[in-house]
Amino acid sequence: MRIEQHRYTERFGSARMHDVQKVLELDSGRARVPTAQGNLAVLQIEEDVIKDYEEQMAVVIPTKDEKLKLFEGVISGIPHECLIIVVSNSERKRFDRFRMERDALEQYCRFTQRRALIVHQKDPHLARALESAGYTDILGEDGRILDGKAEGMMVGILLAGVLGKEYVGFIDADNYFPGSVWEYIRCYAAGFSMAESPYAMVRVLWRYKPKMSAHGLYFKKWGRVSQVTNRVMNAVISYKTGFETEIIKTGNAGEHAMSLPLAMLLPYASGFAIEPQELLSIFEGFGGVQPVLDPKAAESGVEIFQIESRNPHLHEEKGEEHLKEMLLAGLGAIYHSQLSEEEVHEMILEELREQGALCGEEEPPRPQTYAPLRTVDLEKFGAALESQMDAYSIVPAK
Ligand code: GDD
Ligand code: MG
Repeated sequence: MRIEQHRYTERFGSARMHDVQKVLELDSGRARVPTAQGNLAVLQIEEDVIKDYEEQMAVVIPTKDEKLKLFEGVISGIPHECLIIVVSNSERKRFDRFRMERDALEQYCRFTQRRALIVHQKDPHLARALESAGYTDILGEDGRILDGKAEGMMVGILLAGVLGKEYVGFIDADNYFPGSVWEYIRCYAAGFSMAESPYAMVRVLWRYKPKMSAHGLYFKKWGRVSQVTNRVMNAVISYKTGFETEIIKTGNAGEHAMSLPLAMLLPYASGFAIEPQELLSIFEGFGGVQPVLDPKAAESGVEIFQIESRNPHLHEEKGEEHLKEMLLAGLGAIYHSQLSEEEVHEMILEELREQGALCGEEEPPRPQTYAPLRTVDLEKFGAALESQMDAYSIVPAK
């Protein structure tokens, strides 16, 4: 794979945010002895290096009632070396969609000779195991894990930790192009191979997000929600530092990955607020304005890569209300961050009123925030799940 070198980095305290790097070539050919005068602007990442990172990576697929055909396509795009972890919050009553997902995954793993894990978010054993490991933040009044994409992702991170993975990447289950899933994961691997710190995050920026228009397909560059989130997130930094910036281009990136040490360290926010909150948690915890979240990580620094894929992103259209909910969740997280100045509050209120997501003097609700997962005793969590691991695991037949 050939990718642009990162040529520009902004620093906030000990957090380093690299500007967007474009993928230039999906497959850069066989490994060769590097030439003496390497190209400074372009980085070639050998296939073996990508595979080394994929081998240490769990790919978590959060899913809730997605079309089975899409789910099947998505799993087929995940490189063979990665461990697949599906965290499903799909229906089990009227139709047992979870059962269908499990069956599809099982069949796929049988023919591809690979291993996977699949759990249901509402499985009482998962909730009990979390409780016994000392973590109740994501449990609801009914004692089960709360609904929400973030809550599913957090379960996925913990399972990746129990299984000893070094990296965790997220892939949505409603993607129409398996080839793009494959590319996103290569981007994750490429990002980690460039990282200097063990606390690293890779966020994917789609080259295009095609939409149907009156004139046929229109290859839109920016999603409606991302456009606003990025602008507001950049304003948070600009007002704090006194220098206007446009560095953030992946404020909402659902397709992203983290090293396990970083994934265990960050406080998260509920539902769709999770991706903007990850950035806020890094800036709050390492930006030098508030007390340091973790001295060891501060010493190494936290690195954020933003990589632009070649593949366009095509996923399910979920409608206006869904977009509004997502915007409200993300901007709610920013609004209530201690880093946000008055100007940012005004900007958020204006945007949400204009979009009809807030009326009058209403303020955006504060998303629920969760303590970092490092407070979970992973050994206890793993031990409490041991009796269930056979039920959760799909292993290739011998
Ligand atoms: N486990 C679990 N639990 N998964 C869920 C839940 C839940 O309660 N709710 C949604 N999901 C799954 C969906 O099935 C899908 O696979 C993924 O989470 C993303 O949800 P979508 O409903 O498809 O969200 P989106 O496409 O509007 O937004 C995506 O892209 C945004 C921009 O990149 C999400 O990934 C956002 O988080 C992201 O900000
Ligand atoms: Mg989607």
